[in-house]
Amino acid sequence: MTYTLKMQNEKVPKFKNKNFLTLNDFSTEEILYMLDEAKELKQMQKAGKQHSFLQGKVLGMIFEKSSTRTRVSFEVGMLQLGGHAIFLSSRDIQLGRGETVGDTAKVLSRYVDGIMIRTFEHSKIEELANHADVPIINGLTDDHHPTQVMADLLTILEHKGKLEGLKVCYVGDGNNMAHSLIEGAVKVGMKIAVASPEGYAANEMIVQRAKKEAAKTGGEVILTNDPAEAASDADVIITDVWASMGQEEEQQERMKIFTPYQVNEKLCSYAKKDYLFLHCLPAHRGEEVTAEILDGKHSVVFDEAENRLHAQKAIMKLLMG
Ligand code: CP
Ligand code: NVA
Repeated sequence: MTYTLKMQNEKVPKFKNKNFLTLNDFSTEEILYMLDEAKELKQMQKAGKQHSFLQGKVLGMIFEKSSTRTRVSFEVGMLQLGGHAIFLSSRDIQLGRGETVGDTAKVLSRYVDGIMIRTFEHSKIEELANHADVPIINGLTDDHHPTQVMADLLTILEHKGKLEGLKVCYVGDGNNMAHSLIEGAVKVGMKIAVASPEGYAANEMIVQRAKKEAAKTGGEVILTNDPAEAASDADVIITDVWASMGQEEEQQERMKIFTPYQVNEKLCSYAKKDYLFLHCLPAHRGEEVTAEILDGKHSVVFDEAENRLHAQKAIMKLLMG
């Protein structure tokens, strides 16, 4: 596996009109190709080179949950690619008043060239994809956050120069971030250790599927309740909020349960000396991560946030171009 696969591989993967629902849907080569594309688009943007690959194209963006990064990076990404994005809050469109997902998919497909959606149940995005004639991009569901993990992989690659063989430690809730990280890590041959409290582990089906994938790529998936074990010798430490969107009522209970899972100086002392710290943001300083770590010298969280833009531009160019 190399970062320059795109230049070396004569057989270019086909993305046109594919959906981007989970990282498990893509091969190792496809993921590396998308990262390579992202790197190229980032260079073009930094150099001020025109890259209007989606001129005249329109992305519909349905949001059923809040967002800063996802909304802005998709919208700016479309603009930089010469296209346009329409923000569709479920509070304002008929979907929020009971129009079916299927009808919404069919109608939007007559107007736009791609649909990004942030929603609750993962089954809803699958239903949308089943009824739409245009590519559907997952901007976060309760179970997956694949565009975030593409940005994470790009960030790790930029800082470490490679992905294969690295150890990633994820400490916290077995949530959408944990699932997409597990799927992404094994595809690129990384070892991922996930430490969660009892009862908050990652989904068993996703873990088993990832373990099979890991057997092919040289990756590995380890689940544990011990954060120190997961952090031991890690190249990258990642965490996420203890209560995700939609779990606000569990916030207080989760605060108690997750306290031993805070990413702090002590936990990070188990990692390699040159470890990176990532967090998809928004973060809660003093809860899942201390300010020392989030704002410290190992943290690359703002590079990571920027890379949402570049990774998503690559995804949109390949699916909608
Ligand atoms: N990381 C992320 O998805 O951020 P937003 O919720 O702000 O989009
Ligand atoms: N796990 C978090 C990620 C936010 C970007 C959530 O779903 O709220």
